Amino acid sequence: MTDADALLAAARAAATASYSPYSHFRVGAAVRAGGRVFSGCNVENASYGLTICAERNAIFAAVAAGHHRIEAIALACVDAGPEAPAGSLMPCGACRQVMAEFAGPDLPVSIDGAGTVSLDDLLPNAFRLT
Ligand code: THU
Repeated sequence: MTDADALLAAARAAATASYSPYSHFRVGAAVRAGGRVFSGCNVENASYGLTICAERNAIFAAVAAGHHRIEAIALACVDAGPEAPAGSLMPCGACRQVMAEFAGPDLPVSIDGAGTVSLDDLLPNAFRLT
């Protein structure tokens, strides 16, 4: 199993804890940082704007454990069926910007069902202050 495959498996497993009673769209994410794996799922709220994505929950778990550099990330939108538009598999713009805070442009982003791309492919010319 490759590193990407292992991270994708962790992302799919994380999606099972998704709290998504409004969208019924479960997402899981897994981040490798400091040799460890941190996972997260999307957590929705009745006040919809308070919802947080799986990727940010996984990244923030890594940061909360003291890791400011993420080495790889994987995400799995497990409810996007075979007919779903390709875009429904992809990380949202806010999560791309949060990835850029804790990784360089070469960050490998593994997307279940869509392969592995770099952060620079997803967010070219990312806004950075550091
Ligand atoms: N969602 C994620 O968890 N990650 C993304 O990158 C895109 C969207 C979640 C948020 C919401 O709970 C559901 O998917 C539908 O938008």
